[in-house]
Amino acid sequence: MSNVIDGKQFANDLCEKLKLEVAQLLEQQDLQPGIAVVLVGDDPASQVYVRNKVKRCEQLGIKSFEHRLPEDTSEADLLTLIKQLNDQSDVHGILVQLPVPDHIDDKVILAAISPSKDVDGLHIENIGAMAVGNNQMVPCTPLGSMMLLNDRLGDLSGKHAVVIGRSNLVGKPMATLLLQQNCTVTVAHSRTKDIESICRQADILVAAVGRPRFVKADWVKEGAVVIDVGINRIEEDGKSRLVGDVDFDAVSPKVAGITPVPGGVGPMTIACLMYNTVFAAKKQAGLVS
Ligand code: GUN
Repeated sequence: MSNVIDGKQFANDLCEKLKLEVAQLLEQQDLQPGIAVVLVGDDPASQVYVRNKVKRCEQLGIKSFEHRLPEDTSEADLLTLIKQLNDQSDVHGILVQLPVPDHIDDKVILAAISPSKDVDGLHIENIGAMAVGNNQMVPCTPLGSMMLLNDRLGDLSGKHAVVIGRSNLVGKPMATLLLQQNCTVTVAHSRTKDIESICRQADILVAAVGRPRFVKADWVKEGAVVIDVGINRIEEDGKSRLVGDVDFDAVSPKVAGITPVPGGVGPMTIACLMYNTVFAAKKQAGLVS
């Protein structure tokens, strides 16, 4: 088995299963899962992410409702749209692509989304539920990363997991999920002292810092499994390319598993968004508890 963890293949397999489930829901329950994707402004990276999400929906038979709003949209107007989407019965999931422009408070926006439609898992009600071990809607990137880890390692009990990064989107929920699976969890961040030696203790190393090739080969223990959440666009040799938070070429020879960028965690994030949307639709239809 290669030590490269093929997130693209895993995501394709998951989406194939979801496609069958969506077809069944339509045929047997007259239910078509639907998601509203809201993008405010014209951040180029966000545009690519939104396009990829909508494309996946089409492949799976999930209905997508795209709302592209200008950069100068007011917080009040965005809240009005979210309220409409909360009340729209063929919308089962609502995703507001982050970051939103600076004049909009993302906490206010996330709090306005109905928790049952919060397919990003970022509403405090869903975060709180997860914190007490009652997972409802789990954030997509951590969920996808856990699926890859479980597929590669099986039981994670007793392993030392080091998460670099403490964002609400990835670092914090990832640490919570690892703890739920009985890992010993260390969260490292920009103020951590001697981050290298902490990383060297990791059986599982999750890098979510947004800094290109931040994790070097001598930070990583032989035989560790590395999940690289970073997607950083850099200019190199006159070309634009995507690299992760881990120095892949230097790290990969010494580890038991590593996710590449692109083709690792990224496709899993989108597949898990589809997973959460199907789950939300079933839940709203009373088909699951
Ligand atoms: N921006 C980068 N990643 C994400 C994500 O998973 N969800 C949302 N809403 N915005 C993002």
